[in-house]
Amino acid sequence: MAKRKKWEDYSEQDILVANIDKYNNDAIVKFYEELEEPRYQYIEYYVIFDAVVKMWNSLGIKQPIRAVDMCGGAGKAAFVLKECSPEAIVKLVDVSDKMLAIADDKAKKSNIRGITPIEQDAFSFLAEEAEYDIIMFSSAIHHFKDPVGLINLAAGRLSENGLIITIADPTTITKSRRYKFFEFLATNSEGKKGKLKAFFKRDNQNLTEELDFDLAEYQTYTGIDDLSLRLDLSGIGLHPLMHIRYPAGEPYMTKIMPYLGLCWAFSLVISKNNLPQYESYKNTLNYEIKSKLPFKFKFMI
Ligand SMILES: C[S@@+](CC[C@H](N)C(=O)[O-])C[C@H]1O[C@@H](n2cnc3c(N)ncnc32)[C@H](O)[C@@H]1O
Repeated sequence: MAKRKKWEDYSEQDILVANIDKYNNDAIVKFYEELEEPRYQYIEYYVIFDAVVKMWNSLGIKQPIRAVDMCGGAGKAAFVLKECSPEAIVKLVDVSDKMLAIADDKAKKSNIRGITPIEQDAFSFLAEEAEYDIIMFSSAIHHFKDPVGLINLAAGRLSENGLIITIADPTTITKSRRYKFFEFLATNSEGKKGKLKAFFKRDNQNLTEELDFDLAEYQTYTGIDDLSLRLDLSGIGLHPLMHIRYPAGEPYMTKIMPYLGLCWAFSLVISKNNLPQYESYKNTLNYEIKSKLPFKFKFMI
């Protein structure tokens, strides 16, 4: 029997194809269409983006902000940025036209202008000559084999004061038994049945998790080593200004998770250049975030 491939054997192109298939799948698109926004408040997006926009404004940097919501899907990050900075001009880039259509619909219904959907993959978009002030990756970098290479490419498209924001990616805590147990408890009864079925199926077929995975979503389950990522980004000459681990999810869950050691998501704010005004603003940026986030979380720098 032919040996089944492991994650390491797949190329960035294979992973891209898996993502295109997945995010054009009707069931996935329906999930994003029906996402109950009031239930998932994404408060961390508002707090972090608002703090960054405040920093941008207080340093008197050029307006309007030219931004990209990279792998933006239904536009969660783009819409929050527009609330924090209504003049911002945002390109919403994704490989799934169906996800972009959800965003377009929402923009029309809410009469929000200045968000342009672009159906393109990240690598070809970032290869095009253009300059942006903020490039956001929301729940996105875990869909790439080489997040450092991706962020480096994005940094090449930034203006002098340009910033990259990553948000809502999983840390390696997501592969711990503790996280998986909590996730199981928190899921509804239909979800519990599905998880148990998958678990016993794997057991019966004697398959290891390694051999049985969704290529588009692999790092959702293994997580990303965010400390190594930050060091690697410093190693290629970028300048992390902010790095937090926090408990993403439903509001009541985010109150409990930190006490169980489950600050499982991370966010980074990275500047392209080592600008003294950013360095001296770092504490204010952290203070803004600390004073507004309504749950316990950890600063990693
Ligand atoms: C987990 S969803 C996140 C969507 C959105 N950013 C959010 O926070 O809700 C991941 C998105 O990345 C897109 N995607 C995956 N790989 C991509 C690539 N190489 N280039 C552009 N988009 C990509 C998918 O189509 C999908 O919409």
